[in-house]
Amino acid sequence: MALLIVSREHPSADVWAPELRRLAPGIDIRYWPDIGDPAAIAAVLMWQAPDGMFERLPQLRAIFATGAGVDAILRDPRVPARLPLARLIDPSMTAEMSEHVVLQVLRFHRQEPVYAAQQRARVWQVHAQPHPQSRRVGMMGLGELGQDALRKLAPFGFALRGWSRSPRQLPGVACFAGAAGLGPFVEGTDILVNLVPLTAETEGIIDAKLLARLPAGAFVVNCARGRHVVDADLLAALDSGHVAGAALDVFHQEPLPADHPYWSHPKVIMTPHSAALTNPLTAAPQIAENLRRLADGRPLLNLVDRARGY
Ligand code: NAP
Ligand code: GLV
Repeated sequence: MALLIVSREHPSADVWAPELRRLAPGIDIRYWPDIGDPAAIAAVLMWQAPDGMFERLPQLRAIFATGAGVDAILRDPRVPARLPLARLIDPSMTAEMSEHVVLQVLRFHRQEPVYAAQQRARVWQVHAQPHPQSRRVGMMGLGELGQDALRKLAPFGFALRGWSRSPRQLPGVACFAGAAGLGPFVEGTDILVNLVPLTAETEGIIDAKLLARLPAGAFVVNCARGRHVVDADLLAALDSGHVAGAALDVFHQEPLPADHPYWSHPKVIMTPHSAALTNPLTAAPQIAENLRRLADGRPLLNLVDRARGY
């Protein structure tokens, strides 16, 4: 049974193969486009599909995504819908995302952008510091990443709340669910963190209507997908002062075009989709296990529900 790895150029490509060979001795690893005998290839490990790949792999039985979010794969018409798709749950990626969320939440909570601007202007002025208990941090998405970030935020003493599709109960977190829960969730959130998957239901969810429901002076941290945000609405909310700042890791178009207003906006902090990267060393055990499961005909780990969209 062979595994086809797409994207040999990616910096992580050299790490996957030795680690997978260590975990699954005897595994036959090939790199696109040198596929050899296509009939032997049971699974493909990929972020994006190269043109013409699926036509060359009639015996393919599964797709293993190298990322947690699979929205791009699901909306790619070239990807056969018959193939089971497993997304990645990588402990290192989860830890990195939580670091990113804690960093951005603390940055806004501790008024770092205000003090940074003051330093540039040589202004010495102390501002009252809200207590964490009075700072309500709201997590959109209570999955692998959202829940871990909430656990890491908890020791700081923030008033934590979360929103998910189905009702959830998490210790120390005020939980809201579904379309009916979105308004009450947002209205009580001072720092909004987005970690929902991009689906038909969540595309454009951070729009003028949602932003208007945030308390005045709230902050937005988007580390899920750029298409969750209606950029013009966020820019308007920042310019009016209703939203005091935004930390954005993901964008409609990546790399972000050089003339995009976010680059120079004084209230925007940007990172280049670097919040949480896949680490092949910690992700390889899931891939090896899924190869074993595929060989044995057992259900794959972390299967994506295509109907749900994540
Ligand atoms: P996950 O485990 O599948 O969790 C998704 C959460 O979102 C679940 O709680 C789910 O609700 C909720 N959700 C989905 N649709 C919803 C809706 N319509 N309304 C309300 N809640 C909804 O996903 P994850 O592993 O935490 O990853 C989340 C996203 O992070 C990925 O999809 C990806 O876009 C993004 N990401 C970004 C980076 C980066 O570097 N910036 C890295 C990795 C991942 P239920 O609990 O009811 O299912
Ligand atoms: C990165 O954005 C991922 O979804 O893994």
